[in-house]
Formats: sequence, structure tokens, C-alpha cells
Amino acid sequence: MKKAFIKTYGCQMNEQDSGQMHGLLGSLGFAKTLDQFDADLILINTCSIREKAVHKVYSELGRIRPLKDDNPDLVVGVAGCVAEQEKEKISKRFPFLDLVFGPDHIRHLPKMIEEIEINREEQKKVEELKTKTITHTGFDLRKDFEFVNVLPKSEECAVKAFVNIQKGCDNICSFCIVPFVRGREVSRPYEEIIDEVNQLVAMGVKEVTLLGQNVNSYGLKTTGGVSFAKLLELIAAKTDLKRLRFTTSHPKDVEDDLIDQYANNPILAPQFHLPVQSGNNRILDLMRRQYTVEHYMSIVERLKKRVPQISLSSDIIVGFPTETDQEFEDTLSLMKQVEYDQVYSFVYSPRPYTSAIKLTDDVPRRVKQERLKKLQGIDKDILIKKSQVDVGRICEVLVESIDEGEYPVKGRTAENKIVHFKAGDYKPGDLINDSGQRGFL
Ligand code: 5AD
Ligand code: SF4
Repeated sequence: MKKAFIKTYGCQMNEQDSGQMHGLLGSLGFAKTLDQFDADLILINTCSIREKAVHKVYSELGRIRPLKDDNPDLVVGVAGCVAEQEKEKISKRFPFLDLVFGPDHIRHLPKMIEEIEINREEQKKVEELKTKTITHTGFDLRKDFEFVNVLPKSEECAVKAFVNIQKGCDNICSFCIVPFVRGREVSRPYEEIIDEVNQLVAMGVKEVTLLGQNVNSYGLKTTGGVSFAKLLELIAAKTDLKRLRFTTSHPKDVEDDLIDQYANNPILAPQFHLPVQSGNNRILDLMRRQYTVEHYMSIVERLKKRVPQISLSSDIIVGFPTETDQEFEDTLSLMKQVEYDQVYSFVYSPRPYTSAIKLTDDVPRRVKQERLKKLQGIDKDILIKKSQVDVGRICEVLVESIDEGEYPVKGRTAENKIVHFKAGDYKPGDLINDSGQRGFL
């Protein structure tokens, strides 16, 4: 049996895309392998959100080149956002590549593999084995874009799953390359989403995370009138799912109907990833985020009022062009005010095509690093302080896996905190709330 290895860089959406690629390759007879040296097909699913991620892909391709030299039958491809960003440039630099395709072309993967096999057969007839790169980039602009829908194999199905509800992004955040590599926003029909959740539940899935670049604008541009809040309501009403989450959100599109869902939807987990990016209005304006600190804080207050135990997380960029020390301090004060349970922090990285690339990247690298370190220190202090509140609290935990050691049972609270506890009569998928054996790590 042929084997496929996929290396994934970047976000959860890329992880999900890689899962779909494995599913499509499975239908062509490729088994999944975790060992690239044992693979007949290697795909690198790439992320271009920061410059560093792009460099990592190039080094990885440099390491793969000798494998292809040793085994000319090996198929090697680059998928994802760097493929979309670099297009033909990538195969000019790495001519041994058989495949280069952007995120909008995943569902054509079987056809591309077939094409490679036909090319190779023909080349063998004329005794010339020369790699011809098949490149599929550019965006599918149809409103009826077909989402790939390959379910995990039942033996690989975990208690948690991700479901795509949207592709692309129509926002204009000045630092972000995503709209240029993932294209225009399209929402997936709600009937398809509900069907997929029902199929996953039938396979034993207890928790689903809905995925999109900006889930809050789900349905806004499609006729049919199902908003994001309505979608959450429908999933609760029409499936037997136990826990529902979503990511990622844009504060400018958070309305009261979504906040109400936290109070009224029985399966919506009390956890919200709501990236603020900066705590200063001048920087937010330069970032073209289309909201103010005051607006962001009003959402946080409304959420905390409806669901006092809500767990909040955020993305923050430090060292955006022209950010002063004082403006950075504003971000720290916002963090202290919100008391996030988790902050993903990044040093600003200029990206091609974005409008911020025209701004001078004038915050010295040393200052950016110092700001990042300070922010992460404060984040840690907040976390330690908040974790004290959890000591002795009994909460509902979804068991995810049974590992080794003194506390082998690993699960997650509704607030998305990982919990380890002592062995008992538990199995993955159990929802327990009275174990009496607690211990937050
Ligand atoms: N530089 C640094 N961080 C960035 N992000 C997006 N673009 C950039 C960039 N150019 C961060 C944002 C976003 C997260 C996914 O990545 O915080 O929310
Ligand atoms: Fe990028 Fe902004 Fe779209 Fe998020 S909402 S993917 S940060 S452009």
C-alpha cells in the first residue's frame, strides 16, 4: 500500500485541511504515515502568516530534496498559503516539486495525483523522467464553493472534531496576508454543517469546534438568513452534540444575539477567543481593525455579565509600525483589565500584499522582543492568579485520552482547561463532573 506523509505548519485551519487531504488520499489508496522516509508522497501544508513560517518551509524543502534524488518516484508537493503566495516562484526555486496548490484547490487533489501518474507513465515510455510541476493557485470566486467533506476514519475518530463553516476572509486588517492567500469569504450552507455534525456525533464525537477566519460574519453575505448565532442555535436543537466551540472571531462583528447564545445555548462552551491585537486606539486604527478599545471592552463586559465564569483568550501583536512604549503599555493595561485565560502573542512581521507593508517597520527588533517578553510575563502572572480560583472547584470534564503516569486520565473543562486526574473507570468520550479526584496542571 502507498503511504502519504503530510507536514502541517500554522493554524488549526491548516490542521483541518491536512486531515481532509489525508481523507482524499485515502480514497486513492494512500495510507497515512508519520515517517517521511517511509512515504511515497510528501506534502508540506504551509502557513504564510509570519515571515518565519515561510523560511521554515524553504528549509524543509531543502531537507526533502535528497529524498527525491534517491527516489525519483517520490511525489512531493507544497500546499496551503505559501503555495498561494509564491505560485510558480516556488517551483522555479525547487524544480523537483510535483505539486503546488493553494487552499482553494484541496478538493482537486485526487485529479492532480492522477495527472502526475499519467505524466510519469508517458515519460517512462520516452525514457525521460523529468518533473513537471502541476500548479493550482488562484481563488474560486463562486458563492456555491464546494467545501471538502471527508469524515475521519471511524478508528481514527477522536472525541473532538473540527468542522469548517466558512472559507476566506473579507476583512482588511492591514497586517494580515490571509485575505490574499485564502481568498474571499464564503459561508458553507448550514444544512451541510448540521449533517456533518450529526455524522460526527454518530461516530462518537462529543465536542465540535466550528472553524472560519471570522465566524461572526457567517451567513452575512449569503442569502438564506441564517446568522452565526442562529447556526449555533440550530446545532444545539438538531444534533446530540455535547459541547460546541468556535474560532476565530472579529470583535467588530460580535452582536448581542451571539452574547445571548452564551447564556441560552445549552451546549455552547463558556469560552471565547476574541483577538484584540492591540489595546491602543491609534494602533487599532492603523491596523484597520474597525473597532475601538471601548467597543472591545463593552463586549467583554456584556459577556462577563451574562456568563461570569467565561474564559477569554486573545491574539496580540507587539511592535506594530510606530507603536510607542506608552501605546504598548495600553495593551498591557487592557490585558490586566480583561484577565485573559490565554494570550497568543506575536512580534509584528511585515507581509507581502498587505497595506501595512507600506509603513516603515520602525520598532527595533530588540524592542519588539522586550515587549513580547514583558507581555508574556504579565500573561503568566494573570494565569497563575486565575488558576487559584479553580483550586477545589468541581467542574465537568470531557475525557480525551488515557495516558501513563500517576494522573493518566486527560480531559478538558468546558472553559477549555486541561485537567489530569487519577485512573478510574473512565474512557475517552466520558463527560464526568463528580470524580472527587482533581488536580489542575
Ligand atoms: N505579524 C504578526 N502577527 C500576525 N498575525 C497576523 N498577521 C501577522 C503579522 N503580519 C497574528 C494575528 C492574528 C494571528 C492568527 O496571527 O494576531 O490574529
Ligand atoms: Fe487576517 Fe483580519 Fe481576516 Fe483575521 S480578520 S484573517 S486578522 S484579515
